[in-house]
Amino acid sequence: MVVEPRVKDYICTTAHPVGCAENVKNQIKYVKAQPKVEGPKKVLVIGASTGYGLASRIAVAFGYDADTLGVMFEKESNGRRTATAGFYNTRAFEEEAKKAGLYAKSINGDAFSLEIKQQVIDTIKADLGTVDMVIYSLAAPRRVTPDGHKYSSVLKTVGEEYSNKTLVLKDNTVTMAHIPAATEEEIENTIKVMGGEDWIDWMQALSDAGVLAEHVTTVAYSYIGPKITFPIYAEGSIGMAKKDLYRSSDIINEKFANVTSYIAINKALVTQSSAAIPVVPLYITLLYKQMKAKGVHEGCIEQMARLFLDKMAGEAETDENGFIRMDDWEMADDIQEAVAKNWDAVTSENVKELADIDGYWDEFYNMFGFKIDGVDYSADVDIM
Ligand code: NAI
Repeated sequence: MVVEPRVKDYICTTAHPVGCAENVKNQIKYVKAQPKVEGPKKVLVIGASTGYGLASRIAVAFGYDADTLGVMFEKESNGRRTATAGFYNTRAFEEEAKKAGLYAKSINGDAFSLEIKQQVIDTIKADLGTVDMVIYSLAAPRRVTPDGHKYSSVLKTVGEEYSNKTLVLKDNTVTMAHIPAATEEEIENTIKVMGGEDWIDWMQALSDAGVLAEHVTTVAYSYIGPKITFPIYAEGSIGMAKKDLYRSSDIINEKFANVTSYIAINKALVTQSSAAIPVVPLYITLLYKQMKAKGVHEGCIEQMARLFLDKMAGEAETDENGFIRMDDWEMADDIQEAVAKNWDAVTSENVKELADIDGYWDEFYNMFGFKIDGVDYSADVDIM
């Protein structure tokens, strides 16, 4: 089948198997070009198939020579529809890791469920004995808790409705987004999905099963960003969930004597999850323009290689709140001043000049295996 991108709103409903594999290989090549460091050797990555989790898995496998067990929630192909990008990414990663002599297995299912936690524990027991690092990189729209309750997260403000500029992804125009305030119940539900309860559950289950090593590091990801995005992110419903994630990191540190828990504050990047947030994609395009002009732009793999091979190699480098700041280059004064100025000035007419629209779309297509150099998109490919 010849696979073409089919973009609907902020998602592409097809994925290219060869392009996804190339994308993974390019990320591996980047990590291999960095100096290797001593680090954990058996790593569990929860949310391992796309975005930051995939890049984390690649960074630890090829930067630490670590064996990895990944958990993800992806769809296989049914022969007519392509699989999701994360499915092809994971298969390509496993192939490359095995070629390099590294253990790599993946479990495709709902990480929030008890069944998947048990499958992971059984796999660790059978294959690895213990793990010495747990990376928690889930981004999910909903969660079913073990008692059967279903919770959905929302991307809304807290307190008052908020209006600001946004990029309409279907035609690259700039309009106003009106973001409603979340109800108390919606905030609670968002915390249930994107907060830290399930991270603690994972650590408890792994600890109870005796599959945590003598010294374990765990890390989860968050975003803070500039004032423009505060109402929708840091102070919005997702921000409330992230505050719960920070508290959960403290709880993990207190509860498990053998575990050191961290929060890494990552850079705003195009991923399947961030594309869905209003206001944020416009900020990302303005940010990319400035960071590329100053030569400090990073994608997921550059961020995660810097996190694991630099900031977390040895004693982790943290700020006064204990956070590992991967957004240091994004938040630099000169970058933020230029972005804020352009934020005020940007309109549908000048957006192509002020913002890196092409860069945004390239990264967007790349996530689904499209527009990758060296891939023949006119060729028939096996989508299974
Ligand atoms: P993503 O959408 O690319 O990746 C999400 C991962 O979670 C995928 O591997 C997916 O298969 C997995 N997943 C989702 N639901 C699952 C379930 N029920 N069971 C098992 N696996 C499941 O998202 P992204 O952006 O990489 O996000 C990862 C983390 O990084 C999130 O905590 C996010 O808030 C954080 N972050 C993202 C930033 C961004 O700009 N994209 C910036 C800073 C932090």
